[in-house]
Amino acid sequence: MDLTSVEKAYERLANTYDTFFGAIFHPGRKAVVANLDLNPGDQLLEMGVGTGLSLPLYPRDVQIHGIDVSEPMLEKAREKKVSHHLDNVKELQVMDAETTSYPDDSFDVTVAAYVVTVVPNPAKAIDEMRRVTKPDGWLVIVNHFHSENPVLGALEKALAPLSKTVGFRPHMRERDLIAETDLDVVERRRVNLFGYWTMLKCRNNKEALASKN
Ligand SMILES: C[S@@+](CC[C@H](N)C(=O)[O-])C[C@H]1O[C@@H](n2cnc3c(N)ncnc32)[C@H](O)[C@@H]1O
Repeated sequence: MDLTSVEKAYERLANTYDTFFGAIFHPGRKAVVANLDLNPGDQLLEMGVGTGLSLPLYPRDVQIHGIDVSEPMLEKAREKKVSHHLDNVKELQVMDAETTSYPDDSFDVTVAAYVVTVVPNPAKAIDEMRRVTKPDGWLVIVNHFHSENPVLGALEKALAPLSKTVGFRPHMRERDLIAETDLDVVERRRVNLFGYWTMLKCRNNKEALASKN
């Protein structure tokens, strides 16, 4: 996966994304929002906000910032901001999740819904989530990870060469990502159809990581 193939894949998908990936992924988005510890006035960043399907789910007293590399996907998100009167959505802008322009500790919570297997460098995107989130804030991720079921796992491996076309990696292992990034997972929940996707709620343990390194 590279940024150009991601942009091309989502330019093709923008008009039909909500039809194909709206309802089927919605329980996962709802699980993310249900597990957020938010206070009025908190700042939340959604990386890879896409067409903005999560935006109407967030509490209206929380300030939402959305970024994505795909302008066609963001255009759909901007339409939702208007049609749902989402005054709490403060920005929807083109930005790479791996190298954002936000200062350190800008957000109380950072969300990545169905994004970490899409970005070219998942560990770099998670490091960036950690950098821009306040110490002891939250990183909330929902994603499909490589299945431990031998049949499904083999199928996902077979699909791996199609990653660029389908716009995500079907074979990334959760345990590899956690090992590589030192994510401090405090809650893990199976979501969506057959529990085939996973929600991870992680504490932004910056100080623990800094003393370890
Ligand atoms: C599967 S969609 C998920 C969209 C949305 N979060 C949802 O719940 O439906 C993945 C999104 O991540 C975006 N994306 C991929 N790589 C990115 C990157 N490096 N930086 C920001 N956004 C990225 C894609 O453009 C796409 O909109």
